[in-house]
Amino acid sequence: MRALVFDSFGGPLDVREVPEPDPRPGGVVVQVGASGICRSDWHAWQGHDPDVVLPHVPGHELAGTVAAVGDGVGRWSVGDRVTVPFVNACGACAQCAAGEHQVCANQTQPGFTHWGSLAGFVALDAADVNLVAVPEAVDLATAEALGCRYATAFRAVVQVGRVRAGEWVAVHGCGGVGLSAVQIAAAAGARVVAVDVAPGALALARELGAEHVVDAVGDVPAAVAELTGGGAHVSLDALGAAGTCVNSVRSLRPRGRHVQVGLLPPEQGRPDVPMERVIALELQLLGSHGMAAHAYPELLGLIVAGRLDPRRLITRELRLDDAAAALAQVGAQPGIAVVTSF
Ligand SMILES: NC(=O)c1ccc[n+]([C@@H]2O[C@H](COP(=O)([O-])OP(=O)(O)OC[C@H]3O[C@@H](n4cnc5c(N)ncnc54)[C@H](O)[C@@H]3O)[C@@H](O)[C@H]2O)c1
Ligand SMILES: [Zn+2]
Ligand SMILES: [Zn+2]
Repeated sequence: MRALVFDSFGGPLDVREVPEPDPRPGGVVVQVGASGICRSDWHAWQGHDPDVVLPHVPGHELAGTVAAVGDGVGRWSVGDRVTVPFVNACGACAQCAAGEHQVCANQTQPGFTHWGSLAGFVALDAADVNLVAVPEAVDLATAEALGCRYATAFRAVVQVGRVRAGEWVAVHGCGGVGLSAVQIAAAAGARVVAVDVAPGALALARELGAEHVVDAVGDVPAAVAELTGGGAHVSLDALGAAGTCVNSVRSLRPRGRHVQVGLLPPEQGRPDVPMERVIALELQLLGSHGMAAHAYPELLGLIVAGRLDPRRLITRELRLDDAAAALAQVGAQPGIAVVTSF
């Protein structure tokens, strides 16, 4: 099969022939129909993830068709159309027993703990726990966004942020995660302030339901406070940078909830979070990590009903040969880029 490979962190990204994976016990191999390019793939390439072993194939946001089934798999057959949360949970640890598969103690992640989906085929573990059937009405390019960013944003806004109709939501960073959060929060009846440095990202955020947009060059918390009459109820760092994290916390009104979604690799500098403000305003600082497979039916139902439309975030469909440039430049163009030709 063809795959996007890197042999050194931050080094060349080459498309080349590599052996197809075999399914592990309890796992499947999926023929990749669509694989998005997420900033987490860029983090893997940059060497920010200690799980990555070289040489490596990135890619974790995918949808495709089951091509081979390992021993012990009961629910899936060759030909099934599926997506999968990028956290492949074990289904057996204490966290999984509590239903919190997104923080499984024994998780594997395609594109991090083993080779990923920017390739013709990808191996996925614990298929009966993790695979999600893609409804017939949803095409694979749309479904791929559910493998990571759209589902992550859904959990961050709805389950972790507990956004309610009429509340103000600030979204810092309007790439794949942030634009998903804008659409999901607006659909939930929230009023959204979108923050980014890129005019194209802000224009798309407006189309997807943001009531106000803020150019992040100025005093972002002051701008959010002014637009929302005292600060957001919920604020998300959807980039993962010291500045956006602090801006997000400072954008909150008393008793507001900050949701950290963007990854903050220590080598890029720790955020100086104003903990005195967290105390005085009784702010809540929350983390959000993917979403468990068992939580997908609610999201899929809203998509099939037309209430949510991840397709509107996809601005580019690429060939695998174009993936290297897109990965190196992730975030430079508005919307989600998806590889659909391998
Ligand atoms: N927690 C999770 O489960 C999870 C899941 C998916 C992605 N992530 C992480 O979320 C983050 C976002 O991923 P993505 O693929 O959406 O990224 P992206 O590159 O598509 O988007 C980032 C956006 O941030 C904007 N930006 C840059 N500097 C800014 C600033 N100073 N202020 C405001 N905006 C700014 C960029 O213009 C871009 O629009 C990454 O760190 C990724 O690794 C986490
Ligand atoms: Zn587990
Ligand atoms: Zn991702």
